[in-house]
Amino acid sequence: MSEALRTILQAGVEATREAGCEADPGFLWDFWYPAARSTEIRAQKVSRALLLEVPLVLGRTAEGEAFAMRDACPHRGIPLSYGRVDGNVVECCYHGWRFDASTGQCLEIPSLTSQDKLKVERIFAGHYPCAERDGYVWVYMNAPGSPLPEKMPEAPGLKVFSEKYKITHLACDLPSHMDHGIIGLMDPAHGPFVHQSWFWRKRASIHEKAKQFEPIPNGFRMSAHTPSANSAPYQLLKKITGEPVTTTIDFALPNLRTEIDQSGKQWFSSRATVTPVRRDLCRIDFVAAWNLPLPVFLFRPFAKKFLRQDQETMIKQAEGLRHNPRLMLIDEADRQAKWYFALKANLLESRRTGAPMVHPMDGPVTLRWRS
Ligand code: FES
Ligand SMILES: [Fe+2]
Repeated sequence: MSEALRTILQAGVEATREAGCEADPGFLWDFWYPAARSTEIRAQKVSRALLLEVPLVLGRTAEGEAFAMRDACPHRGIPLSYGRVDGNVVECCYHGWRFDASTGQCLEIPSLTSQDKLKVERIFAGHYPCAERDGYVWVYMNAPGSPLPEKMPEAPGLKVFSEKYKITHLACDLPSHMDHGIIGLMDPAHGPFVHQSWFWRKRASIHEKAKQFEPIPNGFRMSAHTPSANSAPYQLLKKITGEPVTTTIDFALPNLRTEIDQSGKQWFSSRATVTPVRRDLCRIDFVAAWNLPLPVFLFRPFAKKFLRQDQETMIKQAEGLRHNPRLMLIDEADRQAKWYFALKANLLESRRTGAPMVHPMDGPVTLRWRS
């Protein structure tokens, strides 16, 4: 973590503390979020993660299944991550209470005598559903105090189009509320300024664009189109296959941006998620898979630089946001951001009332901007 990022984060923590931490952090509960890379979660070892300000302890059972529990012992609140995993059991380091890793149910309280009437099996440590996809451990963050849905939704999975492919993962922390991370991700107007480079595009290449969008469940799609002539990677794809390239970009709540580029039999598929860690900190997890003749070691430096450019920009933005300035969303370059906020508000409203969610778009629309 850079020094600038550390300073901003510290300032954020202090501001949150001063504000008394009362305000609604604006998280979207009842969705899957990537908590960690699969490779970080090892058998018989505990790891920690923070998602939506909930501390989690992650690990694997003896069978290799990932599990997630609230990182607080229901007895005195000490983090369970100070304890140990023993087969399929998590043992607290303080008084040795033992919990079933796949349900959170208490199995044993060592201090109880045969006279004690306490119903051990009625005690549960907070427990969250886990799934592994695309090299991540996903955790279903159900709203505090609410039961799990009867029919659990599937955790998101990256689309791939052939049996053999390359895959790579990158991550970066942003010192911002997830809303800023998300609207930064879908923002079409910053490319020529933030991502100026020989391999992507030049500032002088700005031109007017018209893109068609359509509603999809919980989100919107930039309909299949031929990507901008001023993006070098797409030009490369076209050169390799000699066939036209089509790109489809989706955004779906709570935080998923997926992009699929196809040209003949060649394809490139990627997903970026912006996951809230705290109200002032989010993380981009980026995974890409492709069958192009492009080695991972050649692709990664470019993707890393791209993410780094976004991160540096958001560190600067966080400096401005600390003073609570008034902000603007303009047409039509910021229309996607407006849809995001409307989707989020409408989802929360439909959950509150039980009525079906109203989609902010009535049908396909064309947006125009210069970038
Ligand atoms: S605090 Fe965990 S067993 Fe007492
Ligand atoms: Fe960007």
